[in-house]
Amino acid sequence: MKKPLMAGNWKMNKTVSEAVGLVKTLKNAVSDVMNIEILVCPAFTALYAVNNEIRGSNINLGAQNLFLEPKGAFTGEISPMMIKDIGCSYAIIGHSERRQYFFETNELVNKKAKAAFVATLVPIVCIGETLKEREDNVTFKVIEKQIRESLSGFTLEQSCSVVIAYEPVWAIGTGKNAYPEQVQEIHCFIRKIYEQMYGKNAADKVRVLYGGSVNPRNVSDLMKKPDIDGYLVGGASLEAESFTKLIRYFK
Ligand code: 13P
Repeated sequence: MKKPLMAGNWKMNKTVSEAVGLVKTLKNAVSDVMNIEILVCPAFTALYAVNNEIRGSNINLGAQNLFLEPKGAFTGEISPMMIKDIGCSYAIIGHSERRQYFFETNELVNKKAKAAFVATLVPIVCIGETLKEREDNVTFKVIEKQIRESLSGFTLEQSCSVVIAYEPVWAIGTGKNAYPEQVQEIHCFIRKIYEQMYGKNAADKVRVLYGGSVNPRNVSDLMKKPDIDGYLVGGASLEAESFTKLIRYFK
């Protein structure tokens, strides 16, 4: 049985003290939750302090990005081992904001995902179409290309443990979440392509998250769909109250 994953992507928000304050409240509010995996992904600057705060709790730590080289002259970058060393077990890779503002390609995303595995981090690989692509009716084509290129060359074990996050770009931070039917349709499609790449076992086992304006008001409809294994939440994860509500929907 797959354990659902509720992940909060804090993006470029929260000072160290704000991050610690948030995770402290969250920790107390969800300490009894055992049936799902809870993950917070603060900015790099807050990872160390947040890790100290969540030690021994049921909250896991993730980074929002990493660089693919293990070490060396790459000013400003953070290696997978450094992220592991600071207490992370996950890393978000290829978020649409990184693809859009930092020109990350499927090829780079793939290299980063493999580098994450080398450091025994679980990559959460993000894919999703833009509004223009949806309007131009090329969503499936775009998603297939992203899957085939970003998730290629994994071992069978890696293909089961990677997490895929479907985040339609038009739904991120817009308050306009995708309809549950749209999400279900794409998640099924993701598994179909994934099955062609890695077989039925991996397609069944891989966790596929949805992200894009998820909040406590719209999550119950999404929850009715069978192919959503959790959520990658931006805005609603920045407040302990709303993130706790989302986590508790799984109970
Ligand atoms: P929002 O929940 O703010 O739309 O952000 C989604 C997201 O990008 C999570 O990675």
